[in-house]
Amino acid sequence: MPDDPPVPVTGSAAPPPPAPAPPPPPLRRLAAPHGLAFGTAVNLTALAEDPAYRAWVAAQFDTVTAENAMKWAELEPTRGRYEWGPTDALFAFAEANGQRVRGHTLVWHNQNPAWLADVPPDELGALLKTHVQTTVRRFRGRVWQWDVVNEVFEEDGTPRDTIWLRALGPGYVADAFRWAHEADPDALLFYNDFDIEAVNAKSDGVYDLVRELKRQDVPIHGVGVQAHCSVESPPTTPAENLGRFDALGLHTALTEVDVRMAMPSDPVKLQAQANVYRSLLRACLLTPRCLSFTVWGYTDKYSWVPGWFEGAGAAGILDENFAPKPAHRALRDDLSSGGARRR
Ligand code: XIL
Repeated sequence: MPDDPPVPVTGSAAPPPPAPAPPPPPLRRLAAPHGLAFGTAVNLTALAEDPAYRAWVAAQFDTVTAENAMKWAELEPTRGRYEWGPTDALFAFAEANGQRVRGHTLVWHNQNPAWLADVPPDELGALLKTHVQTTVRRFRGRVWQWDVVNEVFEEDGTPRDTIWLRALGPGYVADAFRWAHEADPDALLFYNDFDIEAVNAKSDGVYDLVRELKRQDVPIHGVGVQAHCSVESPPTTPAENLGRFDALGLHTALTEVDVRMAMPSDPVKLQAQANVYRSLLRACLLTPRCLSFTVWGYTDKYSWVPGWFEGAGAAGILDENFAPKPAHRALRDDLSSGGARRR
């Protein structure tokens, strides 16, 4: 009988661990041929303290939005004393990484400074103008898109009852766009809202508003569709809805995309989630003036969703260990299959 083949001597050391998977191709590179910018909201604490978080932001995205740092309560916590430090850090990061900034947000009913409640109503108009122009001027020439007015509609398409509507009447919306335009004539100025992905009563309200603003030559350039979605009730007609804003000559942008699910997650929900992300991306790619697709945080590690939607989570495209989920692959596949869109 022939001898058994010699057994290679390997010593007693354990085999080396498998090499880590190479990082996936960056979304920003795959989106570029389509003339589409791919963005994320940024948590500035994580950006400062978590090197893995920072590396992914730098590698994957073309645009950044401050998740909270540019809201009025953060910028001017004490009346008359603006704190620009955190926002300056975001701009420095973006500029070092060849990224553009979406400014978020100037006129809103949430995350306003507490001291605003003590301001007499007849001073609010001048105060809002000063806030808008102080903020926009500070970053003049460095903001690509500004969310000038945020969330002024109820779900049924009627105006939301806010401090601004009560004190100033409906004309403050047009005024805010004019003030912002005066302060930075090169920035693209957006109206931004949630639950307006599909054609519905609320997006009808937005449509009527922006059509009227255009008719009056108010300097508005786009509509931001936030797209805080869920796998359980995905948006039905996103392409049709973006298309009608496009037909008004307006830009559109997906500005805050996340797709939550009832926890715990499982493979079926993750695949359903991938399909929702993909349907939103396709709607944008089908819309000639859809400029950018921004996720509201890209990793489940720092997501706002579990804190806000009871029982829901796992809304991002990477899990809490920065592993890409099926949604990340779906976005990559859609961006890289076939040719680029023509506009
Ligand atoms: C959210 C942030 O993600 C949270 O960290 C914060 O506590 C509340 O606001 N619409 C918007 C965003 O325009 O600014 C909101 O961001 C999410 C809904």
